[in-house]
Amino acid sequence: MENAEERAWRAFQEAFEGRPVLRGRAPGRVNLIGEHTDYNEGFVLPIAINRSVWVVARPRPDRRARLVAADFGESAEFSLDDLRPGSLSGWPAYPAGVAWALEEAGYRLPGLEAAVAGDVPIGSGLSSSAALEVAFAIVWIALGGYTVPPLELARRCQRAENGFVGVRCGIMDQMAALFGRRGHALRIDCRTLEVEPVPFPAEAAVLVADSGVRRALAASAYNERRAQCEEAVRRLRARYPGLQALRDLTPDQLEAARPLLPDLLYRRARHVVTENERVQGAVAALARGDLEALGALLNASHESLRTDYEVSAPELDVLVEAARAVLGVCGARLTGAGFGGSVLALVRREAVAAAQEAMARAYTMRFRRAPTFFVVEPEEGATVTREAEPSR
Ligand code: GLA
Repeated sequence: MENAEERAWRAFQEAFEGRPVLRGRAPGRVNLIGEHTDYNEGFVLPIAINRSVWVVARPRPDRRARLVAADFGESAEFSLDDLRPGSLSGWPAYPAGVAWALEEAGYRLPGLEAAVAGDVPIGSGLSSSAALEVAFAIVWIALGGYTVPPLELARRCQRAENGFVGVRCGIMDQMAALFGRRGHALRIDCRTLEVEPVPFPAEAAVLVADSGVRRALAASAYNERRAQCEEAVRRLRARYPGLQALRDLTPDQLEAARPLLPDLLYRRARHVVTENERVQGAVAALARGDLEALGALLNASHESLRTDYEVSAPELDVLVEAARAVLGVCGARLTGAGFGGSVLALVRREAVAAAQEAMARAYTMRFRRAPTFFVVEPEEGATVTREAEPSR
């Protein structure tokens, strides 16, 4: 079987004559804990995973971009001179948005020919879109002859998604794709953008179960959550005038100001404020190698996302419950934005098969179809290389 890198390479050769000169790889991510905290300037703990998006490319003398997506059998073409937010939809909006965001910051880019392929499942909550953005960003910036710090690239990719694609995402996914470290989770402070790699214990496996549920309105529901957090901050300023973001509140401070918020906004804020504390707890638990404590925090995160933030789905709840009943499963929660997508279970390695079986059984009984499973490993962040032959 061809791997994703080989598919990208072959698609390039079929679509364009000659060879690519650059190859970029950017991984997907799974978020261990710290959900819907990034755009509240809080804390997250993602892992870059051993599934990636690959882009192989060469520059053109003009300003046209010609792209082929091996996994969809589709191509796209646009000019760098007429990129406008909303002017493209579907997968080409991501590379186009990245080019737009880079040029907005003053990087003048060449046209290119590029092929893309990946093995990050799409729409499953593992950040295939951030991987796509980052893979194009590193390739395009290298073709332009620039060296740009990864932090700046993360910001540009987030800008592409916010300003061009129209999802007001935070910066976690792009940061994870760029800063991933093999064998480590990443504690990211989404205000200062400091990244601290935290060793991930070898005896633990991260089992991801993709429910297959894709909610059409996920992007608008996501933007709505973000707006609710902003509204909560505005109202809380009546008591805390200097309040910048929910990140600045402790759970006690939120309780003290509860009368200022309608119930819905209070619950949204409570999720964020308690989730930030859980991330800190999770980092401490990892440092002690305490998988049980970490698992309990994952469970609490799911409950908070389900009841306070209301981004779970029956399919995700069934998977989480089934996983938790298995000996050797330390905890389970939905991962990513929610509204469908995947759950992750933190599992002692020897219990992976049992966990998978229990989840598959419960899910199939209730929904008459099977979830898809991946055991993901903490992998290095994005890389761009010159020799473009597939490395295998
Ligand atoms: C999506 C967004 C991230 C983050 C998560 C929820 O993955 O892209 O920025 O907000 O949802 O934690």
